[in-house]
Amino acid sequence: MSKRTSHYVCQSCGTSYPKWAGRCEACGEWSTIVEEALPDAAPGGLGGKGKRSSRGIDFVPLKGQERQAPRRASGIAEFDRVLGGGLVRGSAVLIGGDPGIGKSTLLLQAAAALSKEGAAGCAYISGEEAIEQVRLRAERLGLSDAPVELAAATNVRELKAALDRPETPDVVVVDSIQTMYVDNLDSAPGTVGQVRASAQELIRVAKRRGFALLLVGHVTKEGAIAGPKVLEHMVDTVLTFEGERGHQFRILRAAKNRFGPTDEIGVFEMTDGGLIEVANPSELFLAERHGEISGACVFAGLEGTRPVLVEIQALVAPSPLGTPRRAVVGWDGNRLAMVLAVLEARCGVSTAGQDIYLNVAGGLRVAEPAADLAVATALLSAISDRPAPSETVVFGEVGLSGEVRAVGQTDLRLKEAAKLGFTRAICPATRGRKTRPPEGIAMEEIAALGDLVQLFLESASRDRMLEA
Ligand code: TYD
Ligand code: MG
Repeated sequence: MSKRTSHYVCQSCGTSYPKWAGRCEACGEWSTIVEEALPDAAPGGLGGKGKRSSRGIDFVPLKGQERQAPRRASGIAEFDRVLGGGLVRGSAVLIGGDPGIGKSTLLLQAAAALSKEGAAGCAYISGEEAIEQVRLRAERLGLSDAPVELAAATNVRELKAALDRPETPDVVVVDSIQTMYVDNLDSAPGTVGQVRASAQELIRVAKRRGFALLLVGHVTKEGAIAGPKVLEHMVDTVLTFEGERGHQFRILRAAKNRFGPTDEIGVFEMTDGGLIEVANPSELFLAERHGEISGACVFAGLEGTRPVLVEIQALVAPSPLGTPRRAVVGWDGNRLAMVLAVLEARCGVSTAGQDIYLNVAGGLRVAEPAADLAVATALLSAISDRPAPSETVVFGEVGLSGEVRAVGQTDLRLKEAAKLGFTRAICPATRGRKTRPPEGIAMEEIAALGDLVQLFLESASRDRMLEA
């Protein structure tokens, strides 16, 4: 009888079984039992017997020799910024995203750029595409002459044998972790046990040999990275690559980063020739703006350290439904409900019986509370069927009592607005602190949401006077 190499472990309570079962007898949970490799049988850990050292571990002081994590910048600024300034040696980066969003394209471009930046070597391991297909893509991207080493492989033991050597490449791309498998587990590639075991083995080699490991991860229907949640704990950095299907913009975001900030975004445009960096996203997001229409407002937002102007669009229409529809794209639905409630309770602007649609143009997802005031402006503009003040950007947080609260980085936001030709900003009152707006921008400071409503009423009466 061959020696058992795996066992089945309940992911909820940790009980181990020799056979798979649908329900854990120890904790009573269903579908939590997953095949895992027995510790001694881990590939490469084949020397489980005999080789193990009995020296224990060496403690070292917290203050080490290396001052800063040595990084390797790819030269693709949008990519490097999200990583916090470049790839850190020996780090593992997981990149998740919808199928077809451009993960393979991004990583092939990054690998090519890194290999040209004088890295000692860059390997691209594809488990999804054949060598020929990757070559074809490289040709299309104009990267055929980049010194990237290519391999098509899915067996982790073979991969380890190739990578666990002193002369390994500096950067290794594995596309994707769901296609990799360790051969001492019976389960199919992509299952929880396989993904975890494969990632664990590859990360261990990366740490030991000091190469940066870039793993592509598939996402589930719900948008989470497929496989075990521990995968995200195991790696140093988790990036998500996202975008709207119909749009050519792609946004790279850090969801976790042990070596940098998590609020930076990288903006790319998908073209025939691959991904192109977008150095000034505001220009891109505002490019399709159509003059003076009601229900639109420009929000001066902030993504990490970078100001980004986006258009927020609202549509209000009588609802045939008992419970009117509230549809939001690119913003938080709960936040919309709050702004609507404040408008109704504090300012007497009712939207009962109206369907409301809210959209952040260009496919960007806004998370800042500073967008409250811009959303309120777009809504008021839609409700009153009157364009929002022209050449104006809006930002500010709205509180439950209808007050408009200050937000950070006013200067940065105003500067970006001025750069793009805006002449006015509706923003929170900067009590005491005198913020001098940049040349060409007039600040309209408001303290409460009621002031904004007043602004629309005034412009309405002004219109009526002109008509008379
Ligand atoms: P891909 O990188 O294969 O996506 P993923 O690895 O995330 O599944 O990208 C595939 C899509 O990108 C495909 O629909 C075509 C498009 N694309 C371009 O528009 N231009 C290009 O130069 C390339 C290589 C791909
Ligand atoms: Mg791919």
